Amino acid sequence: MRTPTDDELRLYEAARSAAGNAYAPYSQFPVGAALQPAGGDRPVLGANVENASFGLTSCAERNAVFAAVTAGLREFAAIAVHADAGSAPPCGACRQVLAEFGPEMIVVYRSGGEVVAAPLSELLPDRFVP
Ligand code: THU
Repeated sequence: MRTPTDDELRLYEAARSAAGNAYAPYSQFPVGAALQPAGGDRPVLGANVENASFGLTSCAERNAVFAAVTAGLREFAAIAVHADAGSAPPCGACRQVLAEFGPEMIVVYRSGGEVVAAPLSELLPDRFVP
């Protein structure tokens, strides 16, 4: 885990803006994600979308991945995740989904009140592979 670069902080701000589109009436915990494709395309945004049947909720990070893959993008350099909390790292399920498309991508998130950056391989060191 290290201090983010200026580019990574810009990505984090994009994630913060995406959180404004979250649909989180049950948890009141809006989350935003900004997924940076390799090669400099604009980040693809995601927000959590909840449901009255709680288990159908979909996290911000996975929504960003699914939107990006649907748009034809499959290689990612970084993802930023924002929630209005002291610590808001991506959940385990999202780490596994992210690893499918970039096990070494950089993850930018809030930890202990600070925005930090870490390679996904540090957050998910022994991912499932078929
Ligand atoms: N959530 C995310 O969007 N990403 C995560 O990595 C963890 C949790 C959402 C799911 C739910 O809508 C809310 O945060 C509270 O768990």
